[in-house]
Amino acid sequence: MERTLVMIKPDGVERNLIGKVISIFEENGLRVVALKKTRLSKEQAKAFYIVHKERPFYESLTDYMSSGPIVAMVLEGENAIKKVREIMGATDPKEAKEGTIRKLFGIDKEKNTVHGSDSPESANKEIPFFFSEHELIAVD
Ligand code: CMP
Repeated sequence: MERTLVMIKPDGVERNLIGKVISIFEENGLRVVALKKTRLSKEQAKAFYIVHKERPFYESLTDYMSSGPIVAMVLEGENAIKKVREIMGATDPKEAKEGTIRKLFGIDKEKNTVHGSDSPESANKEIPFFFSEHELIAVD
């Protein structure tokens, strides 16, 4: 079993897609271990995306991610990290496969509705960013 951190980005929360997005993950066998609606400050968004600090889109991305509420969750399942990334689809919704969350709901590369950890190392940093140990409730 593996755990991964998922965020529903401001465009998903604003368009009332929280339930639809979570349903897609659940229908694919993933289980919710922890869940919260919150809002990132600009400083928190910069800290969360620190690995991208040299990228040209860092300022815009962190402005956007702090522009409205998000939903953060920890999902658990076999190969959860890879599975979530497949279910989300490519970063650019235009390139995402049919049936993926970003193909269904993504607007552009920035407003692409969901984030998922890209590796076990990222998940190990991103899960504690939002949740303390006692908030991670084992599935069984
Ligand atoms: P996410 O999985 O949240 O991780 C980094 C984010 O940067 C990515 O999804 C995109 O939403 C965002 N982003 C914005 N512009 C770009 C870009 N040109 N290339 C890659 N990612 C981008």
